[in-house]
Amino acid sequence: MTPPRRHFDALILGAGGAGLNAALQLANADLRVAVVSKVFPTRSHTVAAQGGVNAALANALPDNWHWHMFDTVKGSDYLGDQDAIEFMCRQAIPTVYELEHNGVPFSRLDDGRIYQRAFGGMTQAFGGAQAARTCAAADRTGHAILHTLYQQNIRAKTHFFDEYFGVDLVRDDEGAILGALVLEIETGEPLLIEAKATLIASGGCGQLFRTTTNAHINTGDGMAMALRAGIPLQDMEFFQFHPTGIAGKGMLITEGARGEGGYLINGKGERFMEHYAPNAKDLASRDVVSRSIASEIRDGRGCGLDKDHVLLKLDHLGPDVVAKRLPGIRDLCRTFLHIDPVDRPIPVFPTAHYVMGGIPTDRFGRVVTPVKTGAEEVIPGFYAAGECACVSVHGANRLGGNSLLDILVFGRAAGQDIIKYVHDHPHHRPMNEASVEQAMARLTRWERRGDGLDVAVLKVELKKVMEDHCSVFRIEDVMREGVAQIKGIRGRLPEARLKDHSRVFNTARIEALELENLLDIAMATMLSAEARQESRGAHSRIDYPERDDANWMKHSLYRLEGDHLEWKPVRTKPLSVETFPPKPRVY
Ligand code: FUM
Repeated sequence: MTPPRRHFDALILGAGGAGLNAALQLANADLRVAVVSKVFPTRSHTVAAQGGVNAALANALPDNWHWHMFDTVKGSDYLGDQDAIEFMCRQAIPTVYELEHNGVPFSRLDDGRIYQRAFGGMTQAFGGAQAARTCAAADRTGHAILHTLYQQNIRAKTHFFDEYFGVDLVRDDEGAILGALVLEIETGEPLLIEAKATLIASGGCGQLFRTTTNAHINTGDGMAMALRAGIPLQDMEFFQFHPTGIAGKGMLITEGARGEGGYLINGKGERFMEHYAPNAKDLASRDVVSRSIASEIRDGRGCGLDKDHVLLKLDHLGPDVVAKRLPGIRDLCRTFLHIDPVDRPIPVFPTAHYVMGGIPTDRFGRVVTPVKTGAEEVIPGFYAAGECACVSVHGANRLGGNSLLDILVFGRAAGQDIIKYVHDHPHHRPMNEASVEQAMARLTRWERRGDGLDVAVLKVELKKVMEDHCSVFRIEDVMREGVAQIKGIRGRLPEARLKDHSRVFNTARIEALELENLLDIAMATMLSAEARQESRGAHSRIDYPERDDANWMKHSLYRLEGDHLEWKPVRTKPLSVETFPPKPRVY
């Protein structure tokens, strides 16, 4: 069967902050832009971002972009590419003002300027006193930004394909991306969208893990599409565990809670972060705080009957601060824990939150990949931005508040570059029917029904493997066993069937396609983690506890074909300032 076709100047897969900020540039430039989203756009995961977006506005305390850059390089454990980091930190300031002008309802200081709060790992004057750099709309900043961007896109006449699932990219024999095959979830009908340029902005893959702050939609679909199109994934061993997910459940309690003065205590009632990070304490970088919590619990100082969590105290802040600055987390605690954080501390535990790795790009959002000679090549007409991309500004560990920033800055940059690309390449490349057939075959594979392995059961198994084998602390034997178990699940996938109930829901096939995606991402993560024999940022090896710059200051690249790993250098040279050389990382 040949699917019906639509033609656009640009196709964007994903309607979170990166996709919508890119789309807005394109629609405002009168390009025909299609945004495909598997959920209604304002349900994209950006909506769940709580604490805020970093920009050195200096509204609350002295600040400048160069200090922001220093903190980001240090936070990345020196694996971030310093040209991209400089670009992001400089662009942060106009980006936030652009959001403000587009209507984002930021919280305000008494003098009317945008409210800024303290977040982890941010300092004044290159490692000095705590900075306050995170621009917030209470604790619902992502919600405010996403709704504003959606409304602006509606005004600009962006064309939305709501509740369509991206099946696969189509490409020609030179590797150029020609668009994508998508599936209308309601009807189950495929559609081929041909585009002069394609941007993947499909978000992260937190559903790899059993306990996660991520929505059910975060199944790494765009990353897996890139892998199947022959593009490697970069730095997948670096997965961030947010220190304060609600224990046992996973919902995010924003770092902004500690930024407002909240702090962590162990089972003995001690403020244990003082021992691990004497200066920054509870506002040390996330990897440091997550490891500290895990260590307290491992050493028997956890809270509760099973001593399996620690407590986040906010009661000393008083009801007014909580109501004004943290209303969303108060709601979460009341709904899911039946407690009010104004009166009682919140049980928390490090929870899977964010993938630092992804589709390798440059700072214009163009997908770049080393060819056999080791030289990097730009893939014609192919872009990625946001959590699914690795530009790499976060290196081995992302700072809180730099995620909303990344999606906005690089979504915008990709949009701007696509405008130039479409101007220089005004015609669609000829369609490659073989590639369309290959994408269609992925759909027909999942028409099999009946008794057999249940997709949902395999997904539960995969998430347990990831949590048990590739969590906050890692060690070789356990990861090797994890690789074997993922291979085992992959091997059983062909036996899986959509359950032959009286009615098979359209979503059953989507869940099967998502599981395929997650399996490939899981393998990328576990294999890259097993290979990196050092501890850096969020990748903490019990068997290799030190950072090893001599051997491992390089990016990993995982390719699907042959489960192959290769490496490429870190770009240490910024655009206009001196390099920040690696130093011991203390907070
Ligand atoms: O804690 C938070 O509000 C999360 C922010 C982030 O991941 O950037």
